[in-house]
Amino acid sequence: MADIPLSVRGLDKHFGGLAAVQNVDLDLRPGVTTALVGPNGAGKTTVFNLITGNIPADAGDVLLDGASVRGLQPYQIARRGVARSFQDLRLFGRMSVRDNVLAALEPAPWLWQPGGGGARRARAKAVETALERTGLTAQADARAMDLAYAERKFLSLARILATGARIWLLDEPASGLDPNSRARFVALVRQAVSEGVTICLIEHNLDIVTELADRIAFLDRGAKLAEGEPQEILGDPQLISIYFGEPR
Ligand SMILES: Nc1ncnc2c1ncn2[C@@H]1O[C@H](COP(=O)(O)OP(=O)(O)OP(=O)(O)O)[C@@H](O)[C@H]1O
Ligand SMILES: [Mg+2]
Repeated sequence: MADIPLSVRGLDKHFGGLAAVQNVDLDLRPGVTTALVGPNGAGKTTVFNLITGNIPADAGDVLLDGASVRGLQPYQIARRGVARSFQDLRLFGRMSVRDNVLAALEPAPWLWQPGGGGARRARAKAVETALERTGLTAQADARAMDLAYAERKFLSLARILATGARIWLLDEPASGLDPNSRARFVALVRQAVSEGVTICLIEHNLDIVTELADRIAFLDRGAKLAEGEPQEILGDPQLISIYFGEPR
C-alpha cells in the first residue's frame, strides 16, 4: 500500500437519507490517470471532497503513501501533495491572475527568516512558470473576474501547477472549453503526467476521458459499479445506458 500514492478504502457518506458515496474503493497509482465517470449526482465530487478533507467521511479511510489522513485538515492534506480543482472554480474574482496563483501556495516566509529570500524567489518563479505553461502570462495583472471562461479554467490549473503537487484531482476541468482550449488542456495534463503527476479526473466529455485516462472508475448512486480500462468500461452497453440516463 505504501507504494500507492493515494488509496481510498470503503468510503461512505450520507447526506440525510441520501447515500451519496457507498463503500467506494479507489487506488491512484503512480503515472496512471484515472477518470471518475458517472451520471449527474453519482457522487464523484463528493469522493473528491472526502479525499481532500473538505467533508468528513461517515466510514472508510483515505491513505497517502499508505498512511491514513484521518483527522487532518484540508490544508494539511494539500501539504502532502494533493491539489484539486473545483467544478465552480472558486477563484478570487477581484484579485489579479498572478495573486490567485500566489494565494494557492504556502504563505511566504519572512525575508529575515533563514532562507526566507530564497523561498520567496522560488515561489515567484513557480507562479511565473505556472502562468507560462497555462498561457496566462500576458494576463497576469488582469483581475480573474475579467478573464474569459476558458482562461479562468486555465487559471484554476495554474493554481494547481504552481503548488508542485504530485496528485491532482480535477473536477470537470474541460467542461465548456472550445476545441482549441481543450487540446491545450489535454497537452498540459499529458505533460504533467510525463513529469510524474498522478491524476484523477472527473469528466463528462468521454472524448477527453478516452484521450487521457488509463483507467475508468464508474460510479452510480454513490457506488462504484465497475472499474477497468477505458474501452472495457465505455464498451459496456449497460454502463453506457446508465450513464446516458436511459430508463432502467
Ligand atoms: N453538501 C451536500 N449536502 C447534501 N447533499 C449533497 C451535498 N453534496 C452533494 N450532495 C448530494 O449527493 C449526491 C452526489 O453529489 P455529487 O456532487 O458528488 O455528484 P456528482 O457525481 O459530482 O454529480 P455532477 O456530475 O452533477 O457534478 C447528489 O445527490 C447531491 O445532490
Ligand atoms: Mg460533480
